[in-house]
Amino acid sequence: MNKSEDITSYLKHYGFFFPSAEIYQGLAKSWDCGPNGTELKRKLKDLWWKYFIASQPYNVGADSLILTHPRVLEASGHLKNFYDWLTECQNCQKRYRLDNLISVEEFAAFLAQEEKQNLSISQSCPNCGQNKFAKPQQFNLLLSSDLQTTSQGKKSLVYLRPETCQGIFVNFANIRRSTRKKLPFGIGQTGKSFRNEITLHHGIFRTREFEQMELEFFCSPEEREKWWKHWNQRAWIFLSRLANDKEKIKQVQLNHDELPHYAQKTTDLYFKYHFGWGELCSISDRGDYDLKNHSEKSGEKLETEKIIPHVIEVSFGVERLMLALLENGYQQEITKNSKGKETKREVLKLHPLLAPYFVAVIPWKKTLREKTQQIYQKLLTEINFSATYEETDSIGKSYHYQDVIGTYYCLTIDDQTLQDETITIRERDSRKQIRLPQQEIVQFLNQEYQKFYHEFVKI
Ligand code: GAP
Repeated sequence: MNKSEDITSYLKHYGFFFPSAEIYQGLAKSWDCGPNGTELKRKLKDLWWKYFIASQPYNVGADSLILTHPRVLEASGHLKNFYDWLTECQNCQKRYRLDNLISVEEFAAFLAQEEKQNLSISQSCPNCGQNKFAKPQQFNLLLSSDLQTTSQGKKSLVYLRPETCQGIFVNFANIRRSTRKKLPFGIGQTGKSFRNEITLHHGIFRTREFEQMELEFFCSPEEREKWWKHWNQRAWIFLSRLANDKEKIKQVQLNHDELPHYAQKTTDLYFKYHFGWGELCSISDRGDYDLKNHSEKSGEKLETEKIIPHVIEVSFGVERLMLALLENGYQQEITKNSKGKETKREVLKLHPLLAPYFVAVIPWKKTLREKTQQIYQKLLTEINFSATYEETDSIGKSYHYQDVIGTYYCLTIDDQTLQDETITIRERDSRKQIRLPQQEIVQFLNQEYQKFYHEFVKI
């Protein structure tokens, strides 16, 4: 799959992402998660949580609000500094992010000008072919809303958070006091963020509403370098254990003029998507930028052990990581069926812990439905991972559907099950099958799941 239309159609057909409000012609370039996308997203966030928070001796979690007080974003610098340069074609009114329209060198030269007055764009508008661009202007990316605070309609402005971490910084003192943490320690959070992006492209890659998984790790200034290396390495291991193809991921160190306004140092992790390399994670040394500014603006001392801690941040985008793993995992293989005939197999080779369903329970034929459903329902009460029931016209079709959505094991109930209470277990990637007594199935699946989990979280 290397064409955008094929990917969009796969994501929709197999229940990963649907165009939002499609029955009303859709909300432009916005996406809802379908059932399989929801399972994958839950598992990804859960694994991130286990890897970055629960399995770490220093880290705790938070869950702050999306609605954000304007003073928070004033102190964080987002009101002033969180913008892209926008230009518009004066012929067809198509809007462009300047850095996407012109070359890196041209953009750097433009930024270097004090007045930002002179810009001649050599290329023509990709939409209409004309070369009539408006003077570039700063476009703030914050999305806002009004809360009606009195019956007379008095309104008060709130912002939708552009990054989850500001909720961590403003709660720093409460979290530290209530957990009695000493430096170094981290606070992690997953959830929605919002940005009024000028252009949206590549499906779920760039959207106005998306989720982040962020860890803010607080340490003393002397230990910054040590923890910078540590979290860069952990983020890389997390990604490479999931993506499993080192050719498709890379680390990029940002130059000084590319840094976000809060960062002193940033490494981005990139994945090679169908459209080219794209950023899916950013790791930043934020220094004491956030806590210092919030201390000054709020009057509350955000200190511990007599210092303002420094922050190393790891920030993953959930949908971008999902897209990378879906593109990476989807494969078409030529295989031979039981009669030796070559057939094409579509399979989604996600990490087993991320498979929307770890196991599917399938009757070999319709007459075995009742027995299969009994086994399925019993299994649901005995396992900690997700299972699904599958029934189509033929076992081949059932395997096809479960392979293409990434289910890791298929349990097949056949005539022999009725005689000797054994069940066939088929593994997704190798298609190898074994038979086990029914009473051993739960233990086998639990052990396998635990094995994948321990291998994943180990250092
Ligand atoms: N707190 C740091 C921060 O927000 P960022 O590089 O702006 O850093 C982190 O964002 C990650 O969030 C990105 O690497 C990307 O995966 C995701 N992200 C940012 N903007 C996005 C958008 N418009 N659509 C989807 N994901 C986005």
